[in-house]
Amino acid sequence: MEQYVMRGGNPLVGEVTISGAKNAALGLLAAAIMADSAVHIDNLPDVSDIRNLLSAIEGIGGTVTKADPHTVTVDGTTIRSLIVDNSYVRKMRASYYLLGALLGRFRHAEVALPGGCNIGARPIDQHIKGFRALGAQVDIEGGMVICRAKKLTGAHIYLDMVSVGATINIMMAASMAEGRTILENVAKEPHVVDVANLLNRMGADIRGAGTDVIRIRGVQKLHGCEYSVIPDQIEAGTFMFGAAITRGDIIVRNVIPRHLESITSKLREMGCEVTEFDDQVRVVGKPYLEHTDVKTLPYPGFPTDMQPQITATLSIARGTSVIRESIFENRFKYVDELARMGAQIKVESGSVAVVRGVEKLTGASVKAPDLRAGAALVLAGLAAEGTTTVEEIHYIDRGYEIFVEKLAGLGADIKRVSTDREAAKFNLRVVS
Ligand code: UD1
Repeated sequence: MEQYVMRGGNPLVGEVTISGAKNAALGLLAAAIMADSAVHIDNLPDVSDIRNLLSAIEGIGGTVTKADPHTVTVDGTTIRSLIVDNSYVRKMRASYYLLGALLGRFRHAEVALPGGCNIGARPIDQHIKGFRALGAQVDIEGGMVICRAKKLTGAHIYLDMVSVGATINIMMAASMAEGRTILENVAKEPHVVDVANLLNRMGADIRGAGTDVIRIRGVQKLHGCEYSVIPDQIEAGTFMFGAAITRGDIIVRNVIPRHLESITSKLREMGCEVTEFDDQVRVVGKPYLEHTDVKTLPYPGFPTDMQPQITATLSIARGTSVIRESIFENRFKYVDELARMGAQIKVESGSVAVVRGVEKLTGASVKAPDLRAGAALVLAGLAAEGTTTVEEIHYIDRGYEIFVEKLAGLGADIKRVSTDREAAKFNLRVVS
């Protein structure tokens, strides 16, 4: 069983280059199939979620040509099926973006209904509400979401809650609807803006992405183009907290500092030094971190995808911190694992965690319950005294490209191993 094994205690020092944003790339690849010629996308992260979405696109007949692991050409003109079955959706929830893309382009899409997942129920009622408002008939049958429309017509749609997925999905379908769509109470995340930028480059007419209201004038055709994925805000934030928790000093390269402001501001409150440059940030950790309170919010608030990483870091800060999770109801599952490393965290009512800072964490054997929590457990292991193993690392592979190599490049003593025997060998090596 693949796992990470690490010996904590080395401060992360040096430079790390951030990959393209996974969550942006998922939307961009889906949008690319709407064009009537090939779309070239570069700066893709080489992570399993992206590979799985590319397989789903190939599964419906799309042509995917990889120039290298970070550059693909997607040609949707060869698509021959509008049915995306559960084998893809099970591996990667965001294949639901193919609903909006296929519905917009072909007026018909059938995609397996994404199930619940480790961090909460994650319904898609807002996506469906948007498709219906555009004139699609949406039925759920045999575990599939089936969308059909004779024609799609622009509409005024008000989302009941701020949803990244619904915003992107409805925006894609509306970009090929007849007439004007006004989409209110939308998500403002950088990846929403990135998908809107690609669609506009493909010939769509979308304004306002990045604000609360997106206005779309539908067009009949979208065409191919070249596009580069924005840097991954969450990967960058994870390394920034890596510097904080290990009391290191790192330069995080290939970032858009504006996208990191909520993360930067929390690190400063905790006593770290953060310096912003044009496309990089430097984070200097301090011997003592201060406690702070956190509430996760839609962008530009503090991201829920950074909640486990800040909680892990606050577990060794001075004083008591309160973390409020306001996006997903079940995102503290990793707390039991952190407790095995000596953290003192009490989860109240499922959405509030009270973290009483301890002097140090100690190495333990833990399991990643989901992607971001997995990364947080690795950060904890790098700060802990002794050896930590993190299992279920397939979750981490979904969203972090060459995570171990990047951490080792910063001086972390960490290895990916395939067997318990190899893990034991690593342990012996460091002990002797
Ligand atoms: C995206 C990100 C995920 C991140 C999340 C919040 C991708 C591929 N994933 O997920 O990493 O954690 O945004 O920033 O980009 N909701 C409904 N009905 C809906 C849609 C959403 O009730 O139809 C609720 C969800 O249960 C959740 C909240 O709205 O409580 C926000 O979810 P949403 O922004 O849609 O998250 P995702 O797009 O799934």
